[in-house]
Amino acid sequence: MLMMEKMIMKRISLVTSGGDAPGMNAAIRAVTRVACSQGLEVLGFERGWEGLLTNTFKRLTPRNVGGILHLGGTILRTSRSPRFRKMEGIRKAAETLALNNIDGLVVAGGDGSLRGALELSKETDALIVGIPATIDNDVFGTDETIGFDSAVNTAITEIDKIRDTANSHDRIFIVEVMGRKRGFLALTIGLTAGAEIILVPEVEYPLDQIIRMLEKNAAKGKKSGIIVAAEGIGDTHKLLKQIEEKAGVEVRLSVTGYAQRGGNPTARSRLLANLFGNKAVELLMNRQGNRMVALLEGKTTSIGLEKTCKTEKPLDVSLLQLAKTLAT
Ligand code: F6P
Repeated sequence: MLMMEKMIMKRISLVTSGGDAPGMNAAIRAVTRVACSQGLEVLGFERGWEGLLTNTFKRLTPRNVGGILHLGGTILRTSRSPRFRKMEGIRKAAETLALNNIDGLVVAGGDGSLRGALELSKETDALIVGIPATIDNDVFGTDETIGFDSAVNTAITEIDKIRDTANSHDRIFIVEVMGRKRGFLALTIGLTAGAEIILVPEVEYPLDQIIRMLEKNAAKGKKSGIIVAAEGIGDTHKLLKQIEEKAGVEVRLSVTGYAQRGGNPTARSRLLANLFGNKAVELLMNRQGNRMVALLEGKTTSIGLEKTCKTEKPLDVSLLQLAKTLAT
């Protein structure tokens, strides 16, 4: 009898954790509505892992997740929880899941949150499924994460405007974009905004090469230009000074910053959220825990949590060459 009960998924929970990403709300809506259509109850823990440490949640229903599909941020709110990084915190979260008779937990977040999910899975009987949701797109095993496309669009909308003023003043602009230690955002933003130079942490771009590139462009009559720099490359103020000194051109810096994390999710981020939310519930219904939903070659699939957490996602650096060719 006990065994039988264990086999049935009745109540699941959901948490959004780490940096918010446009499309997290769409994922909350998708998980809730698909789960409820399967007769499951859904609890949403608030403020990321903190909600599991303080047992703070709200019941999610198809009705109270209405009107959020198009909204940025996360109605469950989020946090970076230092307490959850310690074993004591992880055990506390496992106790909260047991206390509330929770059979499954869906964790939507980036690499740190997914690592937290993996650690928690070792301490709980509840099945855990991850949904990759971060603007950084730095999660192994999925071609794309929820929020990435929205952040790219926010940045290129800004760069299109910067290009106008750069042209008017014959200036070089460094546009610093987010991405933590990785260059996925910078590369895609640079390519789609037609940047003259793209700087990513994965590939060294020495100063003298930057200067030579700018001089070549000037000789061709290109007096302005956009350099998209990932935040992970280091001090962009210092870079600005160095370029001004060596190339004798006017340079300005524009930091896109947290605006990239907000705003309405694009159609692509919403679609991914729908597909990922549906897949997450499907995995739980099939009692497949310890997995992360993913998009691979256009198909929604899943990958082991351990594999995704322990593998670094490669950046397609060949696209930097394409960007150079396109920027001539
Ligand atoms: O991971 C998403 C992200 O926005 C990164 O691009 C950025 O480096 C980081 O979060 C900022 O984190 P915080 O919100 O803790 O300042």
